[in-house]
Amino acid sequence: MADLPSSFWGGWVVALTIGSLIWLTWMLFSVFFGKSESDGHDKITWDENLKEGGHPAPMWWFWLILTALIISVIYLMLYPGLGTFSGILKWSQTERIEDSYASYASEFEPVRNSVLSMELKELQSDVAMMNTAANTFERNCGMCHSRSGYGLADRFPNLRDGEWQWGSTLAKIEESIRNGRRANMPGWSSSLNEDQISDLVSFLQQWGSGVEGAESLPGKQTYDRLCIGCHGIDGTGNINLGAPNLVDTVWFYGKTDEAITETLTKGRVGIMPAFEDRLTDVQIRLIVAWLTR
Ligand code: HEC
Ligand code: HEC
Repeated sequence: MADLPSSFWGGWVVALTIGSLIWLTWMLFSVFFGKSESDGHDKITWDENLKEGGHPAPMWWFWLILTALIISVIYLMLYPGLGTFSGILKWSQTERIEDSYASYASEFEPVRNSVLSMELKELQSDVAMMNTAANTFERNCGMCHSRSGYGLADRFPNLRDGEWQWGSTLAKIEESIRNGRRANMPGWSSSLNEDQISDLVSFLQQWGSGVEGAESLPGKQTYDRLCIGCHGIDGTGNINLGAPNLVDTVWFYGKTDEAITETLTKGRVGIMPAFEDRLTDVQIRLIVAWLTR
């Protein structure tokens, strides 16, 4: 009732309810104590010997209905029901829900605080905490990074290989989860021809595998001209841009010539969604601990 759109409707409901109660009371008393109209009824005879009766209703009916009326009035005075009047007890469903949330929150407050203040090592050696973390990860991240975080289909990075495109410190990993990430590797099909691309691919393959003399391959010149701004002179990448290390054994989008050619011609835009609003601080801390254990 309290959320009725305007006080007009509130007043309307109050008038209607009180009106009906008064009318019912009047009816009750007039039926039981009003002037009897049965006079004369007994005289009507139907079907030769069938006489119409005029007996009053039993008194216990009166007491029953009266008690019900009194209980209704008491109820309407104590609890919300009369328009916008919230009742003497000020009971409200919303408040009850808020109260139970508050008591839930205070009950778990010590656990929450302990998770936030525990040393990372301590957290990582707590089996129950790590199980909670694994479940939270599975539910929120599993569809992309796979249940255990080993990545999926060359599209969603492996989070268990110790290789962090956006930085390996706890703060950077937490930042990736909270704010999300958006990588932007441009495609080069309009500025490089097929030969230049295939030169680049063979240079990257050899450079990445640490083959000696790779730096004298023709692809190296193109690399120096177009790629060092993001991937660095030595190919180790740039965590601020999410540009991956190209001289290690980890290939996010695959190590085959085809996969690398596709990366170079079409480009790649990997998007990691932000979880700041979807997870609590405790959940994020647990996941970070779980991922780096
Ligand atoms: C504007 C910055 C930028 C430039 C310039 C750039 N890259 Fe990238 N590159 C990235 C980013 C960011 C990613 C990661 C894309 C993702 O995660 O979706 C990436 C990914 C890659 C990958 C995939 C690595 C893997 O592990 O699968 C390769 C290969 C690559 N770049 C090669 C190159 C080459 C060769 C050039 C020069 C022709 C180049 N990039 C120029 C930013 C850049
Ligand atoms: C919709 C798919 C999706 C979901 C869900 C998702 N991620 Fe990601 N995540 C990605 C993609 C794609 C990337 C790679 C972004 C890029 O190309 O740089 C990524 C990157 C990351 C990175 C950075 C990796 C690095 O090498 O620096 C971290 C950390 C991460 N995710 C953690 C999580 C966690 C924890 C969750 C769950 C709370 C999660 N992700 C949920 C798609 C997802």
